[in-house]
Amino acid sequence: MTIYWFEDLATGIPDVDAQHQDLIAMINELDEAIATRQGISRLSQLTDGLILYARHHFATEERLMAESGYRYMAEHLKEHEQFGERVMAIAFESDAPENHPRAVSEFLHKWLIEHIGTVDKLMGECLAG
Ligand SMILES: [Fe+2]
Repeated sequence: MTIYWFEDLATGIPDVDAQHQDLIAMINELDEAIATRQGISRLSQLTDGLILYARHHFATEERLMAESGYRYMAEHLKEHEQFGERVMAIAFESDAPENHPRAVSEFLHKWLIEHIGTVDKLMGECLAG
């Protein structure tokens, strides 16, 4: 299912919103590759790219939170850490059924939308002052 960025997901931080839109586009690209049965090497390439970009994106958010002394930073970092743990499992146990590209896509849909829609939004509201 194609996902779309919509105004309710906006954090109001231009760099963060642009990166969220890139992440959603990358998830859609992965889904398209799954639906059109592209080879496993292409799927791994897309999954790896997405995970790398997510890490770069977390670094952006974490820098902004640190710079502004964001009071819910610890809770926010915990969610980023949990994402990192799941991603390590995907990278090192790629043969496990729960790490099949389709399962990875479902995880990314759920995680990114839920994370953007809650903790990232809260961060945007607080950083806006
Ligand atoms: Fe975040």
